[in-house]
Amino acid sequence: MPPEPLEYRNDLLFFSGISIQELAERFGTPLYVYSESSICRSIDLYRKGAGKRLHRICFAVKALSNISILRLMARESCGADIVSGGELFRAMKAGIEPSQIVFSGVGKSAGEIREALEADILLFSVESEEELGLISRIASERNKIARISLRMNPDVDANTHPYISTGLRENKFGIDRGSLLNIYKKILSMPGLDAAGIGFHIGSQLTGLSPFQDAASILSQTARLAREMGINLRYIDVGGGLGISYNGDPVPGPDEYARQVCKSLDFPDIEIIFEPGRSLVGNAGILISRVLFVKDTPEKKFYICDAAMNDLIRPSLYQAYHGIWPEKKSQNTVRADLVGPVCETGDFLAQDRMMGSFSSGDLLAVASAGAYGSVMSSNYNSRPRAAEVMVGSERAVLIRKREDYNDLIRGEEI
Ligand SMILES: Cc1ncc(COP(=O)(O)O)c(C=O)c1O
Repeated sequence: MPPEPLEYRNDLLFFSGISIQELAERFGTPLYVYSESSICRSIDLYRKGAGKRLHRICFAVKALSNISILRLMARESCGADIVSGGELFRAMKAGIEPSQIVFSGVGKSAGEIREALEADILLFSVESEEELGLISRIASERNKIARISLRMNPDVDANTHPYISTGLRENKFGIDRGSLLNIYKKILSMPGLDAAGIGFHIGSQLTGLSPFQDAASILSQTARLAREMGINLRYIDVGGGLGISYNGDPVPGPDEYARQVCKSLDFPDIEIIFEPGRSLVGNAGILISRVLFVKDTPEKKFYICDAAMNDLIRPSLYQAYHGIWPEKKSQNTVRADLVGPVCETGDFLAQDRMMGSFSSGDLLAVASAGAYGSVMSSNYNSRPRAAEVMVGSERAVLIRKREDYNDLIRGEEI
C-alpha cells in the first residue's frame, strides 16, 4: 500500500485525488507535487497532541521553502524556524509574521543578525558564546533588545543517520550542556539581550520518542536552575526531528510525539515551540518521473528515469529509502536499480530493490519526497530544476515553474 495521500483507484495511481497521469500530462516530468490537506492534517495532529498547553508551531523552512507552502503555513497560523537571511526573506514574503519567527543555525552573519533584529523576530536560537557577543553588540548599537534562546547540546544519541544527528557532544550544534548556566549568568550583565528561552534540536528523522524525553529531562534541570538564577524564561524550543515512515514501518505520529514532549516538560507557564519540518511535509509530497529506458546488463536491470540525484539527492546522500510506486499497479515485481541520467554512479533513486516492472514511457511516483527534496535540488549536469505543484480541494496549481535553459545561465557572464 502506498503512503497516503497516494492511492490506487482501479489500479491507477492517484495523489490527493488527482491521477498521476493527469499531473504528468499537465505539468511535465520530473514534477514535485504536494498535498495541502495532508500538510494541514499533520499540523492538526501537532495541535491535538499539545492540547491546552501553551505552544506554537514554527515550520522548519529548510524542509520545503516554496513560498506557497509558507503561505499555507501562515494561513494555518504557523510561524517559521529559519536558518538564513534568505529564509527570513521567504518567510516574510509569504506573510509569516516576524513575531512568529525563530532564527536557528550555527553560523549567522552580522548582516543576517541585523536583518532579523530590524524585523523584530521572536527569538534568536544561539549556538555559541561568540554568536551571543555579536548579537549583543549589534543590538546595543541599535538600541534594541534581542530575545535569545540558548540551544543546548544535551549529548543525546538520536539513533539516526550520522549526517542528521545534531545533539551529540561531537556535533557542531548547540552549546555544551555543562556550560549553559554560566552563559546565562554572563547574559545577565550583557547589553541588548533578553534571555527568553532555552532549547534543543537533537537530529532529524527520529523514529522513537525516548531521545526527545531524555533531552527534555536534561533541559528541564537546566531550565529550573536558570530560573532560580533570575533568568526570565518564557519559551522552551524543542526543535524538530520527528521522523516519518518511508518504508511502512510504524513511527509515532505528531499527536503522540507532541503529547509526550509536553508531558516531559513540567513548566505550565512556559510556551513550547515546536519546529517540525519533515513530519509536516515529508509524506505530503511526491516526485513524479517517467521511465526513459530499460537497460538489462549481465549484472543488473536498470530503469533509467528522467528524475535524478539533482532533483532528489537523499538516496545518494543518506542512502535514504523512498517508496517507488508505478502509475499502473503492477503484479510483477523485479529486482532493479532506478537511476537518473546524471553522470555519477551515485545517481540512483532506488538500488537493488524489488519494484514494479516498467517499460519505457511509464510513469512512477517517488513517495515521501516532500521534505528535503526540492529544496536540496541543484542544476548539476545543467539540468533545469523540476516544477512544483500544490493540490488543494482536488485542484492542482503550479507553485514553481519548471526552469528553462535561460535559468541555467542567469547571472553568468560571457
Ligand atoms: C534547529 C532545527 N529545527 C528544526 C529542524 C527540522 O527538523 P525536521 O525536519 O527533522 O523536523 C531542523 C532540521 O535540521 C533544525 O536544524
